Amino acid sequence: MIFDAVAGIFSHDLAVDLGTANTLVYVRDKGLVCSEPSVVAVTADSNGRGERVLAVGHEAKEMLGRTPGAIRAVRPIKDGVIADFEITEAMLRYFIRRAHNRAKLVRPRTVICVPPCITSVEKRAVRESALSAGAREVYLIEEPMAAAIGAGLDVTAPTGNMVVDIGGGTTDVAVISLSGIVASRSIRCGGDTMDEAIINYVKRKYNMLVGERTAEEIKIKIGSASTECKSEDMEIKGRDLVAGIPKVVVATSDEISEALIEPIHAIVETVHLTLEQTPPELAADIVDRGIMLVGGGSLLRDFDRVLRNETKLPILRSEDPFTAVVHGAGEALKDLALLKDVALT
Ligand SMILES: Nc1ncnc2c1ncn2[C@@H]1O[C@H](COP(=O)(O)OP(=O)(O)OP(=O)(O)O)[C@@H](O)[C@H]1O
Ligand SMILES: [Mg+2]
Repeated sequence: MIFDAVAGIFSHDLAVDLGTANTLVYVRDKGLVCSEPSVVAVTADSNGRGERVLAVGHEAKEMLGRTPGAIRAVRPIKDGVIADFEITEAMLRYFIRRAHNRAKLVRPRTVICVPPCITSVEKRAVRESALSAGAREVYLIEEPMAAAIGAGLDVTAPTGNMVVDIGGGTTDVAVISLSGIVASRSIRCGGDTMDEAIINYVKRKYNMLVGERTAEEIKIKIGSASTECKSEDMEIKGRDLVAGIPKVVVATSDEISEALIEPIHAIVETVHLTLEQTPPELAADIVDRGIMLVGGGSLLRDFDRVLRNETKLPILRSEDPFTAVVHGAGEALKDLALLKDVALT
């Protein structure tokens, strides 16, 4: 008993969902310990040679679009994959250290969730980032697989399960059976694309420029996948493109749903294409079991209804769409046989 307790202190294995929008860290025996935006603010080092990390997570996200010349607020993960290796490593190190409070000595076994479309070069980059951030053994699990486990689906059974993960950078659609992904498709279209669509719409319609953060707020507050639900208004503040001065307009949910037509269509289309690739026995299972939605983007109002109308399949939602992936990876951390089964080699 005492031995177990002592060993436990030194083996706080972790699971990390390194997302385009949010990074989540799960520590074995402790649960979810950190959930923060994947944003890092850096400034030039005083000796002028490199860059120094100023802030990570929430604090850094507040700075997005508001930094003076010397500070950069960076989102190091783009479209689900690492775009800035060094900054990702700094961010990982910060989160891993925070998960352990102090111990720099601890070198945990680490599970990292990666997009299914990841190339071998990108896999190596993720692995190396984690190793130099202090991990001991690194396992990679595909996000839809982790999401399915986290949403409580039995991924080892010979039954087809479909998962749709709408994240910040990508939407991943996968059909899982017998611990493997049988059919999958990913598109670089997710919450960020919706925000961009809103920025472009407001620019066209109101001759006004709004920032990324404002666009996201609009989407969450009044955005909708269809015009069928109750319309709401919202005051939007930005900069007039012609006069150059700040201005305020009132937008409605109907307008925002018009702005979101294209990204919603692209996501629905991806679900259709994946269903077309699915072997018939597994397709039959999906008719019975439905489609499991995860990822923050799936919270867009009325999206579930639109997908149900378009596919005629039952639509299920995971309990917490933001944490399904990291919880699934955490489950795998507890069950080494399952981890070896589902991890990428
Ligand atoms: N209520 C909401 N309605 C619509 N979108 C939302 C809502 N809440 C959050 N989002 C969006 O969800 C996205 C973040 O989701 P999530 O944390 O699952 O992404 P991620 O895992 O970081 O990204 P990825 O999996 O692509 O790497 C953001 O684009 C955010 O704007
Ligand atoms: Mg994700």
